[in-house]
Amino acid sequence: MPDACIDLILTSPPFALRRKKAYGNEDAESYQKWFMEFASEFRRVLRPRGSLVIDIGGTWTKGQPTRSLYHVQLLMALCEMRPRPFHLAQDFYWYNPAKLPTPAQWVTVERIRVKDAVDTIWWLAKSTRPNASNRRVLTPYKPAMQALLRNGYNAGPRPSEHVISDKWARDNQGAIPPNIIIAANTASNDRYLRRCREADIRPHPARFPSEVPSFFIRFLTTPGGLVLDPFAGSNVVGQEAERLGRRWIAMEKHEPYLRGATLRFAAEPAAPDGPSR
Ligand SMILES: C[S@@+](CC[C@H](N)C(=O)[O-])C[C@H]1O[C@@H](n2cnc3c(N)ncnc32)[C@H](O)[C@@H]1O
Repeated sequence: MPDACIDLILTSPPFALRRKKAYGNEDAESYQKWFMEFASEFRRVLRPRGSLVIDIGGTWTKGQPTRSLYHVQLLMALCEMRPRPFHLAQDFYWYNPAKLPTPAQWVTVERIRVKDAVDTIWWLAKSTRPNASNRRVLTPYKPAMQALLRNGYNAGPRPSEHVISDKWARDNQGAIPPNIIIAANTASNDRYLRRCREADIRPHPARFPSEVPSFFIRFLTTPGGLVLDPFAGSNVVGQEAERLGRRWIAMEKHEPYLRGATLRFAAEPAAPDGPSR
């Protein structure tokens, strides 16, 4: 792959899970060494103002109810990479309300920990000012804000000592979202799953809900931009990129997952009384 051709690398690598998935997971202890072999190539293929977004869930220390620091250590390693480091543009948190209460021993048997329902998402970049615009990811105003925009409000100091200026009440066509994405991957009858069933292909066990890639693709690229997912699994990233008018490249080492991924793009069989979609 040529240097500096990718606008956004958006990926969810295998995590260092204690309970391993069928596609194989590295151990927390060897994770950094494994990942860093990819990191310099990621940096090389990114455009100067491109971004690397890594969804990486936390894990537990083997045999005890404490958290591993492997995902934080990976972040540190990427930001201390020599000769040229990545910059941490912002940390994000994906809250998945559908996460199961594991590990059972600590959460449901001894009841000494709560559900771990958040993945960290590190937004890294080659430069300190990567391409980004939060105008592309505005969310609808809540009713309270709509009321403020209609009725006005008091500018001035707040108990928190913040001073709210009168510009604050300008209608910006939507709210600036926080660094938390709430999305559950519980769809049991979406087109991908249905078509995998029809083709007798086992679906990928750790798919992104489309909201996660959709947010970062809109936020960090413009139409026509090139998005790469080097650990693509079922290629939700490619599907969202396509839907949003970006170009995409997907890499995946397990061929059956790629076969499933292609079904996302195949035309529906022709209906008896109409053209195929
Ligand atoms: C967490 S899954 C990604 C799921 C994906 N985000 C989705 O929504 O379907 C990680 C994937 O990385 C793949 N993988 C692991 N090592 C790889 C490698 N060296 N090159 C390419 N893919 C790899 C695994 O087979 C697995 O499908």
